[in-house]
Amino acid sequence: MTLRYSAQVDVTGRPVPLHDEEAFAGMRRAGRLAAETLDFIASAVRPGVSTAELDRLCEDFMRAAGATPATIGYKGYRHATCISVNHVVTHGIPSEKLLAEGDILNIDVTPILDGWYGDSSRMYLVGEVSVKAQRLVHTTYDAMMAGIAQVRPGNTLGDVGHTIEHVALRERFSIVEDFCGHGLGQVFHDAPQVLHYGEPGTGVVLEPGMIFTIEPMLNAGKAGVKILADGWTAVTRDRSLSAQFEHTVGVTEDGVEIFTQSPKGYTEPPYGA
Ligand code: MF3
Ligand code: CO
Ligand code: CO
Repeated sequence: MTLRYSAQVDVTGRPVPLHDEEAFAGMRRAGRLAAETLDFIASAVRPGVSTAELDRLCEDFMRAAGATPATIGYKGYRHATCISVNHVVTHGIPSEKLLAEGDILNIDVTPILDGWYGDSSRMYLVGEVSVKAQRLVHTTYDAMMAGIAQVRPGNTLGDVGHTIEHVALRERFSIVEDFCGHGLGQVFHDAPQVLHYGEPGTGVVLEPGMIFTIEPMLNAGKAGVKILADGWTAVTRDRSLSAQFEHTVGVTEDGVEIFTQSPKGYTEPPYGA
């Protein structure tokens, strides 16, 4: 395996790795396991289940497949997943609190399989949820997919970010600017940094071999976020609902490969309905 670097640096000044076919093969397997984990957990999401229980189920599933959850021990984080309910934007910590009818939640998993990281998250609905919440979830998925559709050699990360922001604002939702997508491969959070907003034609010019996540967070209210005293949980300052989806993608010779596509076709909720 040879890891090359682009001549370009990202917005943080770091060189952007260019991955070879062997890396793409590894990412395909890791990404598939992330997607299988998110497929598997769908049937367990219901009123009365705790997010700690969902975390345990995801951890067991990833380990049974021979993977290690990347988040355990990452900067002191102790869980196999992040589970972000309602006004939690991202990095929600699994707890014994029970899900209730009407909740919306994001489950984010990052299995490491044979050294490769697959990073993906989806939204789940608990029973019947409000029309507004459904619209937020649906728009967040659309925003992510519109961003992914911009991924091809010659386009820029600014094109990706701008498109995501455009879809969010068109539906009168706000885009969280405090968290971003990231390169990954055999490292969890690598270059390039992927902003979910921006100007067309700016930023890193995409080249075949770049691998990164796209993981926009949309809020029903204002974009402002604060971190709770636990040091992880990010919530909307105005306590409005928030939603997030995440795929890991690679730039190919003529477009994009999504490593974390659902084998079951569970793209957006309700799943299997
Ligand atoms: N999976 C998250 C991401 O998309 C990272 C979670 S880091 C943790 O980048 F420590 F909070 F788990
Ligand atoms: Co990520
Ligand atoms: Co993630």
